[in-house]
Parts: sequence; C-alpha cells; structure tokens
Amino acid sequence: MKILVLNGPNLGRLDLRDSNIYGDIDFAGLVKFIIKSGEELGLTCDVRQSDSEVEMISWLHEAADQKIPVIINPAAFTHYSYAIRDAADMVSSPLIEVHLSNPMSREEFRHTSVISGVANGTIAGFGPDSYRLALIAITGMLKGVK
Ligand code: DQA
Repeated sequence: MKILVLNGPNLGRLDLRDSNIYGDIDFAGLVKFIIKSGEELGLTCDVRQSDSEVEMISWLHEAADQKIPVIINPAAFTHYSYAIRDAADMVSSPLIEVHLSNPMSREEFRHTSVISGVANGTIAGFGPDSYRLALIAITGMLKGVK
C-alpha cells in the first residue's frame, strides 16, 4: 500500500531551523526515517516536500483521484491555507495531520489549524516519531481497527 507523505514550506531546510524546536535531523534524514518506518509496517511511503501551495494542492488532488492515504505536515500553511483545507477535504482515504513540534505550546498564531477539521486525526510534538505514529494509525484505519 502506497502512502503520500506531504511536507509544506521550509521543511526542506530543517537543518537550518531552530534545533531547540525541530531537533538535529535534516530533511534527508527525515525522509529516510519515514521510508524505513513505513517499510516496517509494510507501507511504501512517497515522501514529498514543497514550498508551493499550488503544488501541495495538486498532490492532494492526486491523492483524492487515486484514493491514496495521506500524511501531511502542512507546516505554516496549517495556520491559514483554506485552499489546502478544501483540497484535503476531498481526500476520501485516511488523512492524518502531523507536526514535528507541538504548535499548541508555541506562539498563539500556531494554535489554530485550519486543516485539523478535515483530518482524521492530528499527531504533534513527537519529532520524527509523529510521522511513525501516523503510519501506525493509518495501518490501523486500513485494517478497520478503531
Ligand atoms: C510545523 C509547525 C508549524 O507551526 C511551522 O510553521 C512549521 C513546522 C511542525 O512540524 O512542527 O513549519 O508544522
């Protein structure tokens, strides 16, 4: 089973971001971790990153059309992109929102997610493990485990 793992703006430059918040992993390391975590669960992860809202939306359209489950870290788009929310809402397969950090313990503007309302669930604050936990959740959902 293929899973699309979508990452929003500035996550491609993780190594240059605040390591107190995002840890020491760079994006290439995160991709490796996600692919390996997926393989351990029998899932093939297609991990992508874009700084472009247009590209993120086109990937969500692809997931909707091909009924591919999605893990999405919308990054800053989380907090204001109604266009990404509307695209995510069209995905009928499982869609889980993830964050490396816990936005609720950060600045107030990060306390709002316009994506959460159309996601099956949100996992935040566990660093790269947020993605691994989302993969476990998707495995359970695909098996029909509640
Ligand atoms: C983030 C949290 C967002 O608030 C922020 O804009 C990001 C990363 C996270 O993974 O913790 O870019 O989504």
